[in-house]
Amino acid sequence: MPDEIVLTLTVNGDKHRRLIPASRTLLDFLREDLGLTGSKHGCDVGDCGACTVRVGGVPRLACITLAAEVDGEEVQTIEGIGAAEAPLVAAFDKHVASQCGYCTPGIILSLSHLFEQDPAADDAAIRETLGSNICRCTGYTKILAAAREVAARGGQTR
Ligand code: FES
Ligand code: FES
Repeated sequence: MPDEIVLTLTVNGDKHRRLIPASRTLLDFLREDLGLTGSKHGCDVGDCGACTVRVGGVPRLACITLAAEVDGEEVQTIEGIGAAEAPLVAAFDKHVASQCGYCTPGIILSLSHLFEQDPAADDAAIRETLGSNICRCTGYTKILAAAREVAARGGQTR
């Protein structure tokens, strides 16, 4: 493996081309090289979901993904959400589903993918999705309420 690679990545619609260490994780690239700190360091071993981003539309744990692995891909972080995710964000606000907020970016991106795939996702699907994202504050009740409300309206996140 070379020590450095030239990475080409589109992040939230902006194309970047950078020389980076081959060992750089996607999470460190996003946070430290691009200054996009919405994706969080939690466990850093793939267990908590705080670092979840979307790569080619699919949720991915940025802490255990080398930036080199996603060369040429399109990445969405929480900084890149927009009108498509607005109903989800509004439901989180309404139900106070974000407390300390540390888990929230990852959860929003995981749920936005779910509702894109299944706009009227049932409780089982919502719970399965949330199983990838640990929240230590809310007990999940408020997050579930927000997600259920979006599902009841047929998703509307994309
Ligand atoms: S920080 Fe990536 S899964 Fe926990
Ligand atoms: S709101 Fe604090 S960890 Fe989820």
